[in-house]
Amino acid sequence: HSHSVSCVLLPPSQIMTFLMSLHSNPVLRKTNLAVWRACWRSWKSRLHSSTVCTSSGPGPLNGPEEVSPVSHENAPHNPVMLREVLQYLDIQHGQVVLDMTFGGGGHTKAILNLVPEVTVLALDRDPTAISLAEQLAKEHTGRVKPLLGRFSKLEALLSEMNMKPGSVDAVLLDAGCSSMQMDQADRGFSLSKDGPLDMRMDGERYPDMPCAADVVNTLDQQALASILTAYGEERHAWKIASAIVEARRVNPITRTQQLASVVAGSLPAAVVYARKDRLHRPAHVATKTFQALRILVNDELNELHAGLCAARAALRPGGRLCVITFHSLEDRLVKRFLQGEDLSNLDQYHFSPRKGGKGKMLDEKRDGGSLYWRPLRRKVITPEREDVKDNPRGRSAKLRAALRC
Ligand SMILES: C[S@@+](CC[C@H](N)C(=O)[O-])C[C@H]1O[C@@H](n2cnc3c(N)ncnc32)[C@H](O)[C@@H]1O
Repeated sequence: HSHSVSCVLLPPSQIMTFLMSLHSNPVLRKTNLAVWRACWRSWKSRLHSSTVCTSSGPGPLNGPEEVSPVSHENAPHNPVMLREVLQYLDIQHGQVVLDMTFGGGGHTKAILNLVPEVTVLALDRDPTAISLAEQLAKEHTGRVKPLLGRFSKLEALLSEMNMKPGSVDAVLLDAGCSSMQMDQADRGFSLSKDGPLDMRMDGERYPDMPCAADVVNTLDQQALASILTAYGEERHAWKIASAIVEARRVNPITRTQQLASVVAGSLPAAVVYARKDRLHRPAHVATKTFQALRILVNDELNELHAGLCAARAALRPGGRLCVITFHSLEDRLVKRFLQGEDLSNLDQYHFSPRKGGKGKMLDEKRDGGSLYWRPLRRKVITPEREDVKDNPRGRSAKLRAALRC
């Protein structure tokens, strides 16, 4: 019992089994979160095979919530950096475009409206997004092909539809969460709307995978602090982790607002009120905690790397790639990938600002590109001030555009 864990969602005997497998792993001690996830998966499947009841999600505390259905009419359509995306993808009549992050379909719809006879392969891991893509496919017969799945499954999905590697003309990857996911309280991503602490982009597709409530209610203080540091770049990770462990001794943390108050209560007022986003606007002090949990729950950085590899395989020589990211962990990863750095063993080094020299290079060219990529613009592209006014959500967006060599 050296790890002080109290958890009401899961029986203590099973938590101990999980933690023992976690801590006996030397790699995890170096904060290798991929290993943590692997441990979790094997532990959860053991739990299932022994038919013990476990939490398959946080579940609302006050009975079922009203879920506002999403349709094309009420899905938000405010695609980030649309003008720049269309400019750099330079889509031509009759081409095949892969939208790896269909979301609310904002970018796809603009492409369909702008370029006649284009075919859009519309991928998303979120079944709600794919149902929107299916509606759009009915409106544009033969021009939209919805694909439900993660980046890491893309190559298999394309091969199932007989798409050969190197046959796509343009790829867009607009990373992160959609406004639709953020705005629906019951998805558990939002800091401002109370909802169950869920955060799974796949919705209910993988009930065995942990949701955010599972993470905050089971991991010990050290593991929580490591996650907040690695994925949230949170300076007060240890204090927040300690407050989480204290709070859940009384009641499990199952709601977004509950977690937000625990985080706010763990820090001095000076820190709570001084917190600013990258554009120096006031930010909620739990923003980084939420980011860290979301990245962990959805394995976002490994997925992003898998997505970039899949885009490289799908694009024809001369094809174009646009990647939009919303925080520095993602942007660093994209930048290093396009420069030809070897990211095959993602670890904390790849997520943190580079200290010292470059990592192992697979290939590199003088123009800042690599064997596979030529940058369409050397510097990262950011939204125009006017565009941020119209679409404040895009304020921290960064776009990188490259040509497949
Ligand atoms: C920022 S939104 C895209 C918004 C979209 N471009 C628009 O204009 O409406 C990102 C979308 O990517 C999806 N997504 C994120 N990671 C993914 C992954 N690994 N595999 C597939 N889809 C993913 C999310 O579910 C979300 O719907």
